[in-house]
Amino acid sequence: MNDIGVIGLGVMGKNIALNMLSRGYKVSGFNRTFKVTKDLIDKNIENFSGYEKIEDFVSSLKSPRKIFLMVPAGNPVDETIEVLVKLLEKGDIIMDGGNSYFEDTNRRFEYLNKFGINYFGVGVSGGEEGALKGPSIMPSGDKDSYHHIGKILEDISAKKEGQPCCSYIGPKGSGHYVKMVHNGIEYADMQLLAETYLLLKYVCRYSNKEIANILDDWNNGEVQSYLVEITSKVLKEKDSLTENDLVDVILDVAGNKGTGRWTSIEALKQEFNASLLTAAYQARIMSNNLNLRKEFNGVIDSKNNMDLSVETIHKAYSLAKSIAFAQGFGLYNDASKKYEWNLNLKEIASIFRAGCIIQAKLLQEIMDCYDNGANELLAYPTFKNKVIENNKSLKDVVISGLSSNLALPVYTSALVYLTQLSSDLLGANLIQGQRDYFGAHTYQRVDREGFEHHDWSNNE
Ligand code: 6PG
Repeated sequence: MNDIGVIGLGVMGKNIALNMLSRGYKVSGFNRTFKVTKDLIDKNIENFSGYEKIEDFVSSLKSPRKIFLMVPAGNPVDETIEVLVKLLEKGDIIMDGGNSYFEDTNRRFEYLNKFGINYFGVGVSGGEEGALKGPSIMPSGDKDSYHHIGKILEDISAKKEGQPCCSYIGPKGSGHYVKMVHNGIEYADMQLLAETYLLLKYVCRYSNKEIANILDDWNNGEVQSYLVEITSKVLKEKDSLTENDLVDVILDVAGNKGTGRWTSIEALKQEFNASLLTAAYQARIMSNNLNLRKEFNGVIDSKNNMDLSVETIHKAYSLAKSIAFAQGFGLYNDASKKYEWNLNLKEIASIFRAGCIIQAKLLQEIMDCYDNGANELLAYPTFKNKVIENNKSLKDVVISGLSSNLALPVYTSALVYLTQLSSDLLGANLIQGQRDYFGAHTYQRVDREGFEHHDWSNNE
């Protein structure tokens, strides 16, 4: 009998299965199209058995059966569950390792609970290579059943200083929520790096190779991260069809698979300001707005009288990246309270330190903040001092970039966010006046407690 079964043997599923095999587990495989399974069977991998019929796949597993789904998020997950529910027994476990929407995971958890089947939403980050060598893993579901799957998941996860980058997250869909916001932070940091590249290239006039070298240099310091590392590699890559650098022949239009959109929507639902994460998603949308971009191309005059140093951009990047992470962890904190998930924020920072796309030195700082009792990351001295020391650089970057016709949506959002925090003039007094004028929505006064309504009719 085999230890675990993987359904969905596309690149991610195959790599997860190979990862499990490499840690000594006996693995069963099933794929909707048998040819994909057959290709793996033909490789004669020790301890791997592939099945054409799902009934045989299920029968090959030790009890309680543990099945890891790596099928596309959405209907394919529901369809697979419908097939499995007829074949599984009480106590068996299904894990969904895809990027499923956390509310879907909540719903599936409740549904399978009726059959006594344990359902785990398992956030997995690290792309194809991570899946094979060790991703960061965020499992959620019934805590008392976690011990059945914890060892396998922790064994296949990335390790940081010997510690697995996998830890029980919380109930129901909380693991997928954590993965979703991970992606929101991922979008923000990717966009910040794209804006950094634009500044270094079009304000500072460095070549792609020089920018790559600058990023390599930064990667030895406080902003060290996987995304900085791969951005440098992308910038160094040559095109195979022309003499150009590859980045110069890639169309200036970004795609997305939806997790950044979900993060933005959830932040709005929670009434939590994750402006940098949302701006990054909207930047991707804007890049696709080709007709209007063409219509208005060059309409805004670009006159930049302000030079920028690499160090100014470095400081601005360090600060904006910190704000993006602080907003993401703020979302966790808020969701944890709203949904009563009891998320361990330090633990989340810890399992992001290796394997995942947003792995960064900053996560160690975040862990230290939580260790020392931080609630709002930005208010904690490590972050607050960065705000105090680097905000001038952030402002210089935004002013210089915008004057050069570089839109910089995430840098700008970071500056707006800090300005909102630092200013006691938000104009909300006038909004309250307007609301009270047309809707009697009431307002609070500066000089006494309670809500008031004004009779505006004298003013007509
Ligand atoms: C990860 C990534 C990954 C991501 C895809 C799609 O953590 O490994 O976040 O799961 O979902 O790369 O991202 P896009 O939305 O940019 O297509």
